[in-house]
Amino acid sequence: MGRFAMGMLTTLAGLGVIGAGVVMSGAVNVAADQPHSDAVHQLIELARERAVEAGAADIQVPALDDPAAIRRGAGNYAAMCVDCHLRPDSGPTELSQGLYPPPPDLTAAAPEPARAFWTIKHGIKASGMPAWGKNMGDAHLWDMVAFLQRLPDMSAADYLAEVAASDGHSHGGGEHMMAVPAPAAEGEHPTGAMAGDDHHAVAAPAGAPARKTHVHPDGKSHVH
Ligand code: HEC
Repeated sequence: MGRFAMGMLTTLAGLGVIGAGVVMSGAVNVAADQPHSDAVHQLIELARERAVEAGAADIQVPALDDPAAIRRGAGNYAAMCVDCHLRPDSGPTELSQGLYPPPPDLTAAAPEPARAFWTIKHGIKASGMPAWGKNMGDAHLWDMVAFLQRLPDMSAADYLAEVAASDGHSHGGGEHMMAVPAPAAEGEHPTGAMAGDDHHAVAAPAGAPARKTHVHPDGKSHVH
């Protein structure tokens, strides 16, 4: 082995040892309330962009203008996505503000369909974005992609009307809802997310703690 190759190997080994030391000392900042450095942010962003682009490359986009599909997508969006990705005029939520990377505001601009489909199906590792394809078939995922093409043009009233007209959370029996202790009056979801969900409600297990209404300084309240 030449001296150059030896030098390279020694340098790489040294960097590895330094990297391991940094990791083991706890100096890598994993707090979600402190952003990455610019360099780390750009690297992760580039990796995500390239990976989504590669994943989406061979996806055939179906027609996305069927009003029934858009409506089904609205019902599922309200049940599964709205707390992170917002609805027209909702303002930020605890999840949209607390997550890092922050969930994009999907009322602002429609995501490109093939990329959106790939992202919704597979999720994004180590971000809040789940892999919905584990429980939903492709047809239901395309319903949401179709809905997302329309969302930026919807007023708050359009959105609520579309969700109310939908079957709520529906994707062929793969949906799961957590047990909701009754009565749920105070926990009623302001977005109408629970529309159509009654058939999923399960009685609270015996001995489940009573839910408490939790009021924030800004006056918003919800039930824990
Ligand atoms: C717990 C929060 C959370 C929920 C719930 C959630 N997402 Fe996401 N989503 C994210 C985050 C965070 C990102 C950005 C990930 C990143 O940048 O690495 C994201 C990214 C996306 C993107 C990519 C947008 C773009 O412009 O590239 C789409 C599309 C998307 N989500 C759709 C959905 C849909 C549809 C649902 C419901 C079925 C959903 N998300 C539910 C957190 C969430």
